[in-house]
Amino acid sequence: MSVHSKATKVTTHTLQEMKRANEPITMLTAYDYSLARLVDAAGVDVILVGDSASNVMAGQVTTVPMTLDHMIYHAQCVQRAVDRALIVVDMPFGTYQGNSRQALESAIRIMKEAEGHAVKLEGGSEIVESVERILTAGIPVMGHLGLTPQSIYKFGTYTVRAKEDEEAEKLIEDAKLLEEAGCFAIVLEKIPKELAQRVQSELSIPVIGIGAGPHCDGQVLVLHDLLGITMDFSPRFLRRYLNLAEEIDGAIRSYCEDVRSGDFPNESESYTS
Ligand code: KIV
Repeated sequence: MSVHSKATKVTTHTLQEMKRANEPITMLTAYDYSLARLVDAAGVDVILVGDSASNVMAGQVTTVPMTLDHMIYHAQCVQRAVDRALIVVDMPFGTYQGNSRQALESAIRIMKEAEGHAVKLEGGSEIVESVERILTAGIPVMGHLGLTPQSIYKFGTYTVRAKEDEEAEKLIEDAKLLEEAGCFAIVLEKIPKELAQRVQSELSIPVIGIGAGPHCDGQVLVLHDLLGITMDFSPRFLRRYLNLAEEIDGAIRSYCEDVRSGDFPNESESYTS
């Protein structure tokens, strides 16, 4: 029998029970009311209000320009739509690194103004003080290791991380540190599957992968990638379930043709006096 029902709200404890029961966790991003409603109704366990909104919604090249106000706006839209899923909100670049007091204040704003259920922070030992301080306020924290897009200017590229032993060992240490600090789960992004499997087996908290292979306790994707809306992004790990960009293009062209030919609106689409 499943440890989580389709009717009851997902909590951080549900996810931990799912790990223990070996039940895969599903997680997707959402940034707006309409799509968040569909994602929640489809039974996704965790909705991530990701700072990938910077790329997907705002057309920016990196996630670095995202502000706390932007994240709160997106999280508010998602929160209004969601009945069941756990809502995790990304803390944007510059709101938690190197200053645990600022980290706590930023996390409190997310919880109070957007009514998120948890926050996600990128990094390991460098940010553990911020993680601990946020946890003192009773705010659940999800970690994020491997490819951490907020550090793109340090990495230089978006290629697979932790292929070398030294970086892999640091990642394992960081994962354990985040678990000890009290994170309820961690995301592993774009790392070799063998390394993700090791982290998954050595941690008792859920490990959710994106480009981290099949051995994680759950998987996360950016919704717009899965739906085939963002066609210029095709990493190996991405499975597209729709080609929505083509469908949308077709629908819009048909609409333009119908308006130009006088076919739209027709009698039944018009009001009479
Ligand atoms: O911002 C985001 O969408 C993320 C996922 C890629 C995990 O952090």
